[in-house]
Amino acid sequence: MITLLSTEVPLAQGEAPLKVAWVKEGRLLPQGEALDACLGGALRRALEGAPLKEGESLLVATPEGQVLLFGLGEEVSSSGGRLAQALQRLRFPEALVEPLEEAHALAEGLLLGAYRFQRHKSEKEERTLTLRLPGVPEGVLERARKVAEGVYWARDLVNEPPNLLTPLALAERAMELRELGVEVQVLDEEAIAALGMGAFLAVAQGSANPPRFIELRYAPPGARARLDLVGKGLTFDSGGYSLKPTESMATMKSDMAGAAAVLGAMKSAALLGLPVEIRGYIAACENLISGRAYRVGDVLRTLSGKTVEVMNTDAEGRLTLADALCYAERQGAERILELSTLTGASVVALGEEVAALFATEPAWGSLVQEAAGRAGEKVWPMPLEKAYREKLKSPVADLKNVGDRNGGAITAALFLSEFVRVPLVHLDIAGPAFAKKAHALGPEGGTGFGVRTILKVAEAL
Ligand code: BES
Ligand code: ZN
Ligand code: ZN
Repeated sequence: MITLLSTEVPLAQGEAPLKVAWVKEGRLLPQGEALDACLGGALRRALEGAPLKEGESLLVATPEGQVLLFGLGEEVSSSGGRLAQALQRLRFPEALVEPLEEAHALAEGLLLGAYRFQRHKSEKEERTLTLRLPGVPEGVLERARKVAEGVYWARDLVNEPPNLLTPLALAERAMELRELGVEVQVLDEEAIAALGMGAFLAVAQGSANPPRFIELRYAPPGARARLDLVGKGLTFDSGGYSLKPTESMATMKSDMAGAAAVLGAMKSAALLGLPVEIRGYIAACENLISGRAYRVGDVLRTLSGKTVEVMNTDAEGRLTLADALCYAERQGAERILELSTLTGASVVALGEEVAALFATEPAWGSLVQEAAGRAGEKVWPMPLEKAYREKLKSPVADLKNVGDRNGGAITAALFLSEFVRVPLVHLDIAGPAFAKKAHALGPEGGTGFGVRTILKVAEAL
């Protein structure tokens, strides 16, 4: 648990068992300088011969109390995250932290860095941390708290094991947003079938846990624009009959990270009271094996009317998304931002930290790309190369659900684009949605990737 508080008292004058001063390129920043003057140059002397790189720290004992010198890097939020983690590790319960010009990024980083997921630990480590930030307005902290709350929620949902976070459970969690004035509608199997979502249902049919289609609407009065979000909601992806090997299956509880990003962003948006109408659509199901599971070779009828030949049951996300995207468009979406842990190929192309961005329309693509840049989330544009459309041709149906091994992230994106006419941005977040090891902004596990980008997109509309 981390608490950020605003205070008027500057670093030098404050009373605290621990003060934190930043060091960049071997130098103190202004408030650290002032503190050092009060301490007779003790900090500067301590720094000699120890220039402190990003994330490195040096604890200095002075007659006035302890001062932690902490290396500041290029990215303020990352440095904030590392600081929160260091303070937790050193078991300091509270500190007065030198503010930075990018106060929001610092606050966000401190909050995100301190995240932990202990729900299923019998012994929970209580590490409460209270940080006071001189001169940072309460409004800045409040904003950061609301953003972090959405990211935390998205991470919790991704980290929750798949036996507990079933499609039904995900729908129940989504309904919690009603407390914030978000309308939540949940369609059961019958309603999904009645609508004609044949592709979504086929993916879901192998599991004893029934699917749910979750529809969300945050509509503040006087909204100045509308944003429609679609998130991939596979609460577990075994691959189906095109079974994944155990190592690849190990992180597949995270195959609903797109849905988690949509939910987290809608939570933050409602808390922040953003003046934009936001709708969210999640086709939640599991991809499992059984006597009822869909097969390789099956032909499915999507909501759009287009038929799809299943050539790999592990390319299930695009099938559920085809129906969700078509549904979103029928609800009057003007533009769609869709997030999914869609392909291993995007991870091969861009690694674990960068999401692949595909846009059917350049202006919408650059708006999202720039928003991601401001949010501090890494995305990179990829081509929706039309020449590869023929890889998706089927001898028996309108399309097949996979191409060949080459350009797998692109053919997946091309497949999705077959089911919408309005501008679509598809973010393939298979890499950055789930961290295999701890990082500056959090521990291993769900990252909440996408939440902050969605919020920046909504703000830009
Ligand atoms: N959920 C996976 C994609 C994935 C891979 C997410 C690694 C996170 C980390 C998706 O459903 C999948 O299995 N895609 C296949 C597509 C292939 C069969 C064309 C893949 O990437 O191998
Ligand atoms: Zn799959
Ligand atoms: Zn999947």
